[in-house]
Amino acid sequence: MCGIVGCVLKDDEAAPVLLECVGKLEYRGYDSVGIATSASDIKIIKDQGKIDKYKENLDLKELPGKSGIAHVRWATHGSPTKENAHPHTDCKNRIAVVHNGIIENFKELKTELLNSGHKFTSQTDTEIIPHLIEEYMDEGQDLEGAIRSVTRRLIGSYALAVMSTDEPGKIIGVRKESPLIVGLGEDEYFLASDVPAVLNHTNQVIYLDNKEMAILDGNDVIIKNLDGDVISKEVHTIEWTPDMAEKTGYNHFMLKEIHEQPDAVKNTLMEEKEIRNVIEKFPKFSKICFVACGTSYHASLVGKYLFETLVGIPTDVILASEFEYTSGALDKDTLVIFISQSGETADTLKALKIANRKSHTLAIVNVVGSTATREAEHVIFTRAGPEIGVAATKTYVSQLTAIYLMAILMSGKEELLQTLEKMPDYMEEALKSEEQIKEIAGKYKDTTDFFFIGRGFSYPTAMEGALKLKEITYIHGEGYAAGELKHGPLALIDEEVPVVAVTPPGSSHDKTLSNVEEVKARFAHVIALGSHDDDVLKSDSDEFIGFPDEINEMFSPLPYVIPMQLLSYYISVERGLDPDKPKNLAKCVTVE
Ligand code: M6R
Repeated sequence: MCGIVGCVLKDDEAAPVLLECVGKLEYRGYDSVGIATSASDIKIIKDQGKIDKYKENLDLKELPGKSGIAHVRWATHGSPTKENAHPHTDCKNRIAVVHNGIIENFKELKTELLNSGHKFTSQTDTEIIPHLIEEYMDEGQDLEGAIRSVTRRLIGSYALAVMSTDEPGKIIGVRKESPLIVGLGEDEYFLASDVPAVLNHTNQVIYLDNKEMAILDGNDVIIKNLDGDVISKEVHTIEWTPDMAEKTGYNHFMLKEIHEQPDAVKNTLMEEKEIRNVIEKFPKFSKICFVACGTSYHASLVGKYLFETLVGIPTDVILASEFEYTSGALDKDTLVIFISQSGETADTLKALKIANRKSHTLAIVNVVGSTATREAEHVIFTRAGPEIGVAATKTYVSQLTAIYLMAILMSGKEELLQTLEKMPDYMEEALKSEEQIKEIAGKYKDTTDFFFIGRGFSYPTAMEGALKLKEITYIHGEGYAAGELKHGPLALIDEEVPVVAVTPPGSSHDKTLSNVEEVKARFAHVIALGSHDDDVLKSDSDEFIGFPDEINEMFSPLPYVIPMQLLSYYISVERGLDPDKPKNLAKCVTVE
């Protein structure tokens, strides 16, 4: 939700660098873009819409100066207009601010500022910040002191980058609850919401913690706490290469990331030793509880089936946004496992805080240095590499792989590791269905409703298929436990509603097949996923996507999700949409 960038360069103009860096954060929001630079005064160019449109009318010469800030917005307070685009300024245009987060008490503060004569030009919560800084600077504080004073007045979450004409060449960043990193280049320093923004400039970063401030100028970066004390911070070397955050010949990041999935799984498999180390530290648990949102929730559902089948521990799965209402019975015999690609999802972080007080916690996270990795008691990294497409794909399969590894190792059934290690090859096979799926997408692109059904291990796969469809094609998709159809939704099935049936070999197969018969009897078109050898399923379906017969239901979530992702991707493209940037969504959801 919103991406912010700041930079102070020694020799070069800041504007092109800010534009390039903020472009790497577009997955965090694409409602509007804005850049501010400072030479003798602050120059700002901002507009609603995506960066490509913004660039069309942009003359970078109108943004002179070696330092500046930039923003991409995911609107929360105020519609996605040019007026509401960041940066926002004070009354005298000597302070500019970009913000990621939500200021919960902005209404009270705005009333106070209006009563003191401040003029506002937007409906955002953010705009109170430059005006408050202005107040404190007018009282004689320097920029740093004024920002510190302002943070004491703010309730909510924020990552801020701030500049002022009173202190040219200086950018100050501060964070609470929203992520902020500092990039250390050669004679150039950066602030950013996330690492991909700075990868073309440096692989040396500092992760700011809550209530820490970074002061960047042409010579140095100083990190302080909000009492003004200088603190020393670890500098991390990032292993991601700039290429990893580029499309490298694919039309969209999502397609690139779908194709990267076999490698993503291989990378997670290499974490086996780390996972063993984590597991060794566990006491005996009587219960496991997964907590997550969206796609990570679907990975957690697979976790439930795996832990209960293999490890024999009762396992719950709770949506992070519901956790505070249902966490009453947690105790020290429970391991609460948080799954998150970003490690910054606000709902998940809030649940993690609650769980830390009552239970043992583990976070399974992709983004190194993210808040969840610093707050959970134990951490497992999925190492899928940066995922830029808003729709999660490769990070889903890497989350699944980490969960498989955990469940297999905790159960002692290590012979299953061999089966798990074969999955990248099966996933390569599944990718070969791309042309067939492109054709299917063409046929169904104008459909308005889809059902996705599966049982047991295939139920989460069906849910994930439906989520992918909704988020990038804007077609209604319903993921349903196949056995539940007859309890209500069957009333919706007719020849207009295609049903995607996830039907791998295994104990659930025959029953799902019966459900396929039921929807066929109501004239639904069936797109079936199953074993190449499954002649009955083949003859029952209008479209059939085949897999090797040896992939049984327990491991099917890894390869079987691939055609689902491709189907949504190609329907999105057929409908002329941008699958990387679905409307109303952002990759990292840092608000509740
Ligand atoms: O970063 P997280 O895994 O915590 O994000 C959770 C969800 O916001 C995320 O999975 C979302 O549902 C994806 N856009 C789905 O493709």
